[in-house]
Amino acid sequence: MGSSSDLNQLKQRLASARSLVVLTGAGISADSGVPTFRGADGLWRTYRAEELATPEAFERDPRLVWEWYNWRREFLATKRPNDAHYALAEWERRQGRFWLITQNVDGLHREAGSRKLSEIHGNIWMVRCTRCGWVEKNRSVPIPILPSCARCAGLLRPHIVWFGEALDPADLARCDEVLRTCDTLLIIGTSGVVYPAAGFAATAKRAGAFVGEINLDETPQTALADISLRGRAKDVVPLLLER
Ligand code: OAD
Repeated sequence: MGSSSDLNQLKQRLASARSLVVLTGAGISADSGVPTFRGADGLWRTYRAEELATPEAFERDPRLVWEWYNWRREFLATKRPNDAHYALAEWERRQGRFWLITQNVDGLHREAGSRKLSEIHGNIWMVRCTRCGWVEKNRSVPIPILPSCARCAGLLRPHIVWFGEALDPADLARCDEVLRTCDTLLIIGTSGVVYPAAGFAATAKRAGAFVGEINLDETPQTALADISLRGRAKDVVPLLLER
């Protein structure tokens, strides 16, 4: 972890925040046993996520893409939120103006109780009809392949933003607004290389916010952060909230 004075400084800063935004990435779920994206173990059969999580792959072979998602859902169904997820849910209850932005699709923030939340890359436990656009929760494990819409019998797809797809404009507008008006941004466990989230720290900074970072390693955002702590999310985040 960074020095204890950095930890205390960040803690004080967060305690006095009037409007706090938290941005999380795969690192916060790593402590729940979910592999990160840029770690070593990104292969399923001989496919990479970048080959399967695309609209083209789904058009070509929806069965293959659903089999992969079914495998990921089976795996994620065994994972539980960790102390960092729970601490953020508690923070939301304590802090007046609070917003959590996550790039994770695993649903662990929601499971931990977070509600003031934008899941900007979607949620693996939600499905969307490719015909009528209906979105609904679906926790079936395994999911019948191919799944179809209860309303119009159209083909369902995961409600996830795939490579090459745009983020929901309403989600983006909400993120932009909270980032421009927050006085403190805390970034946890993201490599900071995937846009638009990779630009969120710069947006908040330009608007005058204090930026804190928690990550195992240095990232491209570290230089921009006012305080950056090295450590595991599940160890550091609960400490920051302790009274
Ligand atoms: P990455 O896998 O790129 O980065 C994970 C970050 O977490 C790295 O910087 C690690 O150093 C850090 N980390 C790992 N374990 C940690 C721990 N226990 N505590 C704190 N930090 C830890 O994941 P993301 O930045 O989330 O997009 O990746 C962004 C997006 O890339 C993902 O949402 C995904 C992928 O393409 C989509 O699926 C659309």
